[in-house]
Amino acid sequence: MERPSDLKQRIAASRELLDARYSAKRGKPERSFLTISDLTEEQVIDILNGGINIKKNSSKYREVLKDKSVALLFQKTSTRTRCSFEIGVGEMGGQPMYIDWKSSNFTLADLQDEIRVLSRYVDLILARVHKHEDLLTMRKYTEVPVVNGLSDLYHPCQGLADFMTIKEYFGELEGLNLCYVGDGNNVCHSLINGAIKTGMHITIAYHQNYAPNPEIVEEAKTKNAIYLTNSLEDAIKDADVIYTDTWVSMGNESETDARIQTFSGFQVNEALLSKAPDHALVMHCLPAHRGYEISADVLDSKNSVVFDQAENRKHVQKYLIAWILERV
Ligand code: CP
Ligand code: NVA
Repeated sequence: MERPSDLKQRIAASRELLDARYSAKRGKPERSFLTISDLTEEQVIDILNGGINIKKNSSKYREVLKDKSVALLFQKTSTRTRCSFEIGVGEMGGQPMYIDWKSSNFTLADLQDEIRVLSRYVDLILARVHKHEDLLTMRKYTEVPVVNGLSDLYHPCQGLADFMTIKEYFGELEGLNLCYVGDGNNVCHSLINGAIKTGMHITIAYHQNYAPNPEIVEEAKTKNAIYLTNSLEDAIKDADVIYTDTWVSMGNESETDARIQTFSGFQVNEALLSKAPDHALVMHCLPAHRGYEISADVLDSKNSVVFDQAENRKHVQKYLIAWILERV
């Protein structure tokens, strides 16, 4: 049966629409941020300076995310990451939307389908996941940028806030010695990545059972940016910054007893700090476990900048999002 010519025209137009839609993306997924290694050295410094600037002049950024929405997708619990992103997006005129993975259909559908749907609604997706591979899947299928809000491998937003905090105290980062004590985990990996980008030296005081990822260490070795040791005293003697994190990251709970036993000699406490330079900053990404990886008196000491770090999450992430969405 011959179809009327106006229907033929509409079918041709529909085909064109399909072709155009198939190749179109709502946003720029290539501007995703999964690790500090995704950025150039210049971009890292620009974002750190942007965070410092936004902290001083937040009113100038009130409209920056007007008409933009950001999904905050969490597989794990959070205080700092959730609150700093949720408040930060709102402070810039954007709309944040929190999604608890467990109470959504991310639990029962293919990740690639759900993320494609979500990316049709929002302009950016911040995601906290167990497996870093899930972020890689998201980046592959999303139509908007994806930002890593912590995975088993990296915690890059934390790293940016940490380097911003160090920069606030020391002005420049190049040549400073950062000493990380304890578990070779996601936070440790992002500090290694950041040290490479900022010209800092990082020393890791580690236990062989929980060493940092060898590939990440290898890259830092090629840049002469890293030194690994089993001796805490050796590690901290020239430190400008001493950093520690929990011995039991989210997802490692079944290993709690073994980890506490293994790391019992790795506590950052007054006795250890008395052997470090007296100007050394003390850092921790929080949440902390007083009496385990860090003693309460050190956490509360004058040299501790842990609450500056936590606050700076909001400032540097505000700039990061505005930068990713090309609004600054
Ligand atoms: N530092 C950090 O990411 O804290 P939360 O797990 O509370 O978000
Ligand atoms: N290494 C910790 C960081 C928490 C912010 C974890 O992954 O649980």
